Amino acid sequence: MNEKTVALVTGANKGIGYEIAAGLGALGWRVGVGARDEGRRTAAVAALRAGGADAFAVPLDVTDDASAAAAADLLAERFGRLDVLVNNAAVTGGPGQEPTAVDLAQVRLAVETNVLGVIRVTNALLPLLRRSASPRIVNMSSGVGSLTLQSDPEASTGPISAAYAPSKSFLNAVTLQYAKELRGTGVLVNLACPGYCDTDLNGHQGTRTPAQGAAVAVRLAALPDGGPSGGFFNEDGPLPW
Ligand SMILES: NC(=O)c1ccc[n+]([C@@H]2O[C@H](COP(=O)([O-])OP(=O)(O)OC[C@H]3O[C@@H](n4cnc5c(N)ncnc54)[C@H](OP(=O)(O)O)[C@@H]3O)[C@@H](O)[C@H]2O)c1
Repeated sequence: MNEKTVALVTGANKGIGYEIAAGLGALGWRVGVGARDEGRRTAAVAALRAGGADAFAVPLDVTDDASAAAAADLLAERFGRLDVLVNNAAVTGGPGQEPTAVDLAQVRLAVETNVLGVIRVTNALLPLLRRSASPRIVNMSSGVGSLTLQSDPEASTGPISAAYAPSKSFLNAVTLQYAKELRGTGVLVNLACPGYCDTDLNGHQGTRTPAQGAAVAVRLAALPDGGPSGGFFNEDGPLPW
C-alpha cells in the first residue's frame, strides 16, 4: 500500500498548473505532471523535482480519448489508485470572440478542451479515484464563467467572449452535476477561480502571480473528509454562479 497521496494535474507544464503541481509537491504528495508535449513535460518534471517535489510525467492530451485512457493505465500500474485530480488544462480559443463574428472553430476548441476535456479525463480516472480513501476533484474555472458577474455591467469580467467565458459557465454547470451524482460517495468535486494571473493564457496581462492563482486549487485539493462539494471558490470564499 502506497501511503503518499497521489495527485494528477492536467496542463501542469506551465502557468498556474505548474504552480499547483509545485504546491501539491510541497505537501509531500506524489504529483503527476499531465502535459501533452514531451519536451515541455520533461522540463517541467525536472524543474519540479529540482525544487524538491516528487513529480512524475503523465503524457496527456485532454482532447484525446486514447491519451486519457493511457494516463489512467499509467496511474493504475504505478499506484493502483488516484487520490486527487486537478483539471487545470484549458485554452481561450484565441482572440476575437465577439458572438456576432466568432469563428465556430474557436467555440469548438474551447468547449472540446475546457469542458469535454474535463469530462473525458474525469471519467477515465474516476475508477482510480474511487479506490482512494479521500478522493478530490478540482476543476479550474474562472470568474468569467459566472453568469451573475457577466450580467452585472459593473463587474470586471474580461473581454466579450463567445467561446472561453461560456466554456467556463458550461464547466461550472457540469461540475454541479458531478457533485450531485457523487454526493455521498466521498468524492468531493469543486471549482476554483485563480483570479487574473500573469500567464501565457492572457498574454501575461494578469496582475497576480501563477503561484497566487494556484493557492485556491491546492486548498481544495487538500479538503478534509466532509468538506464542501459542488462549490465555486476563489481564495476569498464562494463566488456567485
Ligand atoms: N491566467 C488567468 O488569469 C486565469 C484566470 C482564470 C482562470 N484561469 C484558468 O486557470 C487554468 C490555467 O490557466 P493558465 O493561465 O495557467 O494557462 P496557460 O499558462 O495557458 O496554461 C494552460 C495549460 O493547459 C495546457 N493545455 C491546453 N490544452 C491542452 C490539451 N489539449 N491537453 C493537455 N494540456 C493542455 C497547456 O499545455 P501546452 O503548453 O501544451 O499548451 C498548459 O499547460 C485554466 O483552466 C484557465 O482557464 C486562468
